[in-house]
This record gives sequence, C-alpha cells and structure tokens, in this order.
Amino acid sequence: MSEQQQFDVVVIGGGPAGYHAAIRAAQLGLKTACVDAALGKDGKPALGGTCLRVGCIPSKALLDSSRQFWNMGHIFDQHGISFGKAAIDVKKMVARKDAIVKQFTGGIAALFKANKVSTFFGFGQLQPGNVVAVKQHDGSTVELKGTNVILAAGSDSIELPFAKFGEHIVDNVGALDFDKVPKRLGVIGAGVIGLELGSVWKRLGSEVTILEGLPDFLPAADKEVSKLAAREFKKQGLDIRLGCKVSNTEVKKDGVHVSYTDDKGEQSIVVDKLLVCVGRRPATKALLADGTGVQLSPRGQIEVDEHCHTGVDGVWAIGDCVRGPMLAHKGFEEGIAVAELIAGLPGHVNFDTIPYVIYTEPELAWVGKTEEQLKAEGIPYKAGSFPFAAVGRAVAMAEPAGFVKVLAHAETDTILGMHLIGANVSELVHEGVLAMEFKGSADDLARICHAHPSLSEAVHDAAMAVHKRAIHKAN
Ligand code: NAI
Repeated sequence: MSEQQQFDVVVIGGGPAGYHAAIRAAQLGLKTACVDAALGKDGKPALGGTCLRVGCIPSKALLDSSRQFWNMGHIFDQHGISFGKAAIDVKKMVARKDAIVKQFTGGIAALFKANKVSTFFGFGQLQPGNVVAVKQHDGSTVELKGTNVILAAGSDSIELPFAKFGEHIVDNVGALDFDKVPKRLGVIGAGVIGLELGSVWKRLGSEVTILEGLPDFLPAADKEVSKLAAREFKKQGLDIRLGCKVSNTEVKKDGVHVSYTDDKGEQSIVVDKLLVCVGRRPATKALLADGTGVQLSPRGQIEVDEHCHTGVDGVWAIGDCVRGPMLAHKGFEEGIAVAELIAGLPGHVNFDTIPYVIYTEPELAWVGKTEEQLKAEGIPYKAGSFPFAAVGRAVAMAEPAGFVKVLAHAETDTILGMHLIGANVSELVHEGVLAMEFKGSADDLARICHAHPSLSEAVHDAAMAVHKRAIHKAN
C-alpha cells in the first residue's frame, strides 16, 4: 500500500552531488528528502555514492597503503632506514579501507540527521507530476511528492560485451577488494581509474599491463605533463601499451586471455585478474517513468541547461548523470548551486575552474586550458614553468620529479591554466583555481609571499618564470 509524502525538495541519489544538494537545501530551510538505493559491503544501506563506497575514498586509502609499502622497498634506503623484508597483509589493508568507507558513509547519515534530511533507502523513479516512487529494500513502496525534484543518480562502469564482469574480470569495485596481490594484472583503459588502481597493485607487487585504445597517453592533460607522467610510470614498471584494440577475452584455467591488435598486428596477454575501466555511463536506466518530459541524450545523460534545469517545471539534474566531467567535486558544486537556485539565491558553477587530479605517484593536476588548447583556439599566451628538482622541500622529501607550469594571456597576463606534476600537486593546484576564480594574473601570483621551504614555491617560481624572472633557475 503506497502513501504519499510532500517535500519542498526530493533528491534521488545520495552521492556527492545528491548529498550536497540535500544538505544545502535543508540548511536553507527547505523540507528535504533524499532517496538512495545503494548497499554497503555489509548489506546495509550506505550513503555517499560511488565516491565514498567504491571510488574516491577507498581508492585513496589503498593508494596510501600501497605507497607506504612501495616507499619501504624503494625510498627508505635513501634516508638510511633499513628493516627486514617488507610484507603486505592484503586482507588487513582492505579491512582498513572498509573501515574508512564505513566511517564516511555513516558520516553522511549523521549529517542528514543533523540537518533533518529525511532519508529513504530504496530505488527511486521519477513519475509524471514531480512524484518520486521509492521501492524500498523491505519491498514496500512510498511516494514522495516534491515541489522540486533533483536527479543525482550518478554513473555505472561501462562493461565491454566481450569482457563480462565476474570473479576474474572486474571493474573498480572488484579491484578495490582483491584478497591477494594478483601476480599478473591486466587493465583495459589507461584513464584515471586504470592508472590509480594499476599503481596500487603494481606497488604491491603485481606485474601490471595496461592496454589503452588511443594512440596518445592521457590526451586530456597538458602534453608536457603526460609525457613526464608516462616516463615516471614506466620507471615504476607499469607496462602501458597504446593504440591497442582489445577484441576478446576468455577466462581459462591459467588466467584471463586478452586478445588485442596494435600496429604490429595480433597480440595477446594472459593475466590473473583483468580490470576494465573504459569510462562510465550515466545511471539513468529505469530512473524515469514514461511521461515525465525529462529528456535523455543519446549517451543516456539527462539533458539540462547551464543551471542544471531539465526544462520540466521543478525538475533538476546534477552530477555524473548530466553533461560535464564525472568528478565528485563538480557534482558537489552543482548540488549546492541547484539548492540555492531553488531557494531563490544566485547559485552557479564555474566550469572553467574545475580542478582535475590523478592520484598517481607523482600526482597530476591541472586547471584551465592546456598549451595545446590555447594554440588550437589561437589565444596568445606566455608560459612559465619550474621544476620540483630545484625546490628544497621537494628534494628534502626525496620527491624531485615533476614541475609546475603557469599559462597566462600574452597581453593581459590573466592566468589561463596551471598544470602540475609532482608530490602533493592535488593540493597545490588550488592556488591556480583560486587565482583563476579571482581573475588573477601571473604577476599577482608572483608577488604573493610563499612559505619557504614548501612545495608551493614551485608555483611561485613558475608564475615568476612567466615574466622570465624566476629566482631559482636560469630564465
Ligand atoms: P576514463 O575516461 O578516465 O578513462 C578510460 C580510458 O579507457 C580512456 O583512456 C579511453 O581511451 C580508454 N578506452 C575506452 N575504451 C577502450 C577500449 N575498448 N580499449 C582500450 N581502451 C579503451 O575512465 P575511467 O578511468 O573508467 O574513470 C571513469 C570516471 O571516473 C572518469 O570520468 C573519471 O574522471 C572518474 N574518476 C575520477 C578520479 C579522479 O578524479 N581522481 C578517480 C577515478 C575515477
């Protein structure tokens, strides 16, 4: 028997975009509900979406564990530290990751409670008339009528037709939960997930082979950054093969046989586990009942305008299920902006200053345009770069690889992009984000006092290098 409850805002999806929208709406005094279908590893409802359960947070936990292990074998000696043979207890490492996930998914539940967001655990479907039908985990159905409905359903891994997920062929979810280090790990797709999770298992001892379809490595990154990244990853032993067209996989007794063609012809590898990470698609299947008026693009994305409005009165969509990069923090900002727009405030998201980070070693990060984009768009620019090898703090940390590059308009000096590779650049990139958000110039950044010794000095000197006045290198 179905009952109908009335809310100012009903959010479908309790991931990064959805929980931000729900909490901000509740802060603004709107009566808010959030619907989420996901279950944690313990079979209980778990808020926080892909990011908290099987994405950003657990992968960072494993990246950190594996980095400590790698440093024991490869870096500690430089510091004069020796010890017995390093060993890894994978089950303990995974249990630590699971505990972190539980802490954070539980944290969202606590935040919902504190902000008086009503939570409904089950699958929500939008019906005509801004009604959300929730099929709850106990089998009952509840109907929520929202003056506004925000669709934040997220995304799912793309499965290749010839590589069905199972015990041996996995997506990010499976690759976060191996019970031992696979001797041979194959990865299809040298994107963000392939590089991050490939790094985790490589550091722990797997032989990792990454097959990438495109002929170029990380084409979205600035070319100098991707070139150095490829060199550093090769040094670590990651075998990244470009221009590989994977045609088939077969699970046999001795492992997963992966067939592909490259410029030399037909090839194959045999691996113990195969991670397929060739992108994600919007999770919009079954999200919309007939007659809602909400439109999907051919790629399954919910069509929205620049304010995340679907064109249907009171229906909005945010996060991975709409256009734009599939990044948790892009979803955060859209969630906040839409809640504020609903409350009559001027919410907005600046797509030009969204930072991108890949949490490998070294880390990669960027904001704004690459040199290649500026050239293609005919925008006159000046570039200044500075290597971490000349930064005292980086060398003291035994992290000399990488550089910071600042790109500024040749006439106005306005910062147009910042590209970084090196230690902790996931944090440093925000100097570029802030400067660009405030329409700052390379000269502004160059004249800001930076602490010495700190990694941020690379940003400072790179900004000075735009005008050929870097202090710590020849200009
Ligand atoms: P991705 O789009 O980053 O990379 C997929 C890669 O697979 C691309 O290089 C593509 O050329 C390649 N590819 C596609 N089809 C292929 C095929 N048939 N054979 C060989 N290669 C093929 O997608 P990924 O790594 O799956 O990540 C999914 C999403 O999750 C991305 O949008 C990413 O931004 C997000 N994410 C972000 C993280 C971060 O911000 N640090 C961490 C992990 C995921």
